[in-house]
Amino acid sequence: MEGDIAPLPEMIPVIKQYGARLMVDDAHATGVLGGGRGTAAHFGVTDDVDLIMSTFSKSFASLGGFIAGDADVISFIKHTGRSMIFSASIPPSNAAAALAALDVMRTEPERVQRVNDNAAYMRQELHRLGFDTGNSCTPVVPIIIGDDQLCFVVWRHLFDAGLFVNPVISPGVPVGRALLRTSYMATHTKEHMDRALTIYEQVGKEFGLI
Ligand SMILES: Cc1ncc(COP(=O)(O)O)c(C=O)c1O
Repeated sequence: MEGDIAPLPEMIPVIKQYGARLMVDDAHATGVLGGGRGTAAHFGVTDDVDLIMSTFSKSFASLGGFIAGDADVISFIKHTGRSMIFSASIPPSNAAAALAALDVMRTEPERVQRVNDNAAYMRQELHRLGFDTGNSCTPVVPIIIGDDQLCFVVWRHLFDAGLFVNPVISPGVPVGRALLRTSYMATHTKEHMDRALTIYEQVGKEFGLI
């Protein structure tokens, strides 16, 4: 929710110490961090992670997902996973769309770079305007609001001004830490982002956020 990154290098020794296993939900990192390979690659600890799962519904622009791990664990999931039993599997068209997106990630790595560059620009500028963006260091950049009602009212004003973000309240975030989840894409141009910043500034001043 806040665009921060799980500190895997700090978690791994603790996991090893207690004989636990580590599964990384990389929904927001695949195609974004580690040159697109995700959080474990970002930290260079892929071999120390037991399971990596991700969704095709974000950077893959499709539906479905994957889980990668040891063959015996994957076999166990195939035979016991709730969604693998009495449910239809991913449609071929969605699998094809995800594969095509993977091809783009491999052949056009500059897009992975650009999404991170765009996010860095927005974080820097939102911060300069005086917004609280928490500990974000990814293309998910929160604007911390606090109060639920204020969060929805600000969301509506941004929407009416032409900006689409996501309002998030408890239980998505702790009580009293309602936020607007803003996110950025490789295809956002500087003009898009500057236009968005003008709207953020106007609405932010109107509601005393900055
Ligand atoms: C961290 C995280 N994991 C998993 C999911 C689930 O993805 P999907 O809706 O494609 O099943 C989401 C979706 O928002 C997510 O944010």
